[in-house]
Amino acid sequence: MLKLGLLESRSEHWHGTAGGHDGEAMDFRQKIAVVTGASSGIGRVTAITLAQAGATVIATARRESLLQEVSTACRQHTPDSCHISGDLGDKAFAQHLVDETVERYGRIDILVNNAAVPMHRSLYEIAVDEAEEVMRINFLSCLWTSFAAIPHMLLQGEGGEEGGVIVNVSSFVATVAPTHETIYAASKGAMNSFSRGLWNDLAGSGVHCVLVIPGPIDTPIWDKFEDDNAYSGKLYPPQMVADEIVAAIGKRRFEVTVPRRNPSLVTARVLATLVPSLIRKGVARMNPVSKKLVDDARDRAKAGQRMGLGKKP
Ligand SMILES: NC(=O)c1ccc[n+]([C@@H]2O[C@H](COP(=O)([O-])OP(=O)(O)OC[C@H]3O[C@@H](n4cnc5c(N)ncnc54)[C@H](OP(=O)(O)O)[C@@H]3O)[C@@H](O)[C@H]2O)c1
Repeated sequence: MLKLGLLESRSEHWHGTAGGHDGEAMDFRQKIAVVTGASSGIGRVTAITLAQAGATVIATARRESLLQEVSTACRQHTPDSCHISGDLGDKAFAQHLVDETVERYGRIDILVNNAAVPMHRSLYEIAVDEAEEVMRINFLSCLWTSFAAIPHMLLQGEGGEEGGVIVNVSSFVATVAPTHETIYAASKGAMNSFSRGLWNDLAGSGVHCVLVIPGPIDTPIWDKFEDDNAYSGKLYPPQMVADEIVAAIGKRRFEVTVPRRNPSLVTARVLATLVPSLIRKGVARMNPVSKKLVDDARDRAKAGQRMGLGKKP
């Protein structure tokens, strides 16, 4: 069984297999892998890392030119890799992505549900339609692609073969739900429960689900925040997440937090489970809700205005 480290240290030893469960090596060279949110950040690096491992990658996101770069990079390793661009907030596209993959390649072995948008704004200023959009892109897209992929994976898994692996990229934010991250945290919390449910519902089917929980990772997502975010600590390289994803697929892991055994994340997780009030106090101290925000919202309530009308209702 290969021990996986960061790509740089591993690449020369990497021959397209990762340690499988029960000590067997998983051969990525025969695998067809769909990676969503592959135009940037974690998805981009994961797509290329999977291709380096030998998988044929179908990269997807909205930005065609960035996807083209990614699929070109993947094709250097697996010449049949391609990209399909579209909006994963649209159920028809999410289903089409899987259908098109199976039509072109005859199967789907790995589905990495990674696409997401951030939403860092006071709950009082989020339009209800925006909140729904975050849920569609961040959570429902993963449900739609999974529903589309599972039947194919079940057929592939008939007779005890490996059916397939669904990887859901969540966020540590779901554990602590920082101020002004409620909708984003809710989308990731839904993903967590969906993934943990799949572990049970898919038992015995040959289809496996991996839940990946990144901490703070250095990607363009941080540039998409509308205001100064409260976090100013260390950011970890996206390659770290990609390596963990590839290892988790190979080893049929259930859940992996990245970076692993990080003292801050471990402490936050333990406190969130055992003493949630401490987490609430810490979050409130780190990023308090201003009195003005509450007063303005109360004034609008007095005027009979609905919440969820948007930034400047
Ligand atoms: N970076 C972190 O600190 C961190 C921490 C915890 C969890 N995560 C999670 O890690 C995953 C990857 O995030 P990242 O940090 O790599 O962010 P990123 O660089 O902003 O990448 C997000 C990806 O999602 C795609 N995407 C967004 N909306 C889409 C839509 N409607 N349809 C199709 N694709 C869409 C984007 O592509 P287009 O814009 O081209 O569509 C992009 O490829 C996300 O699930 C995120 O929640 C990140």
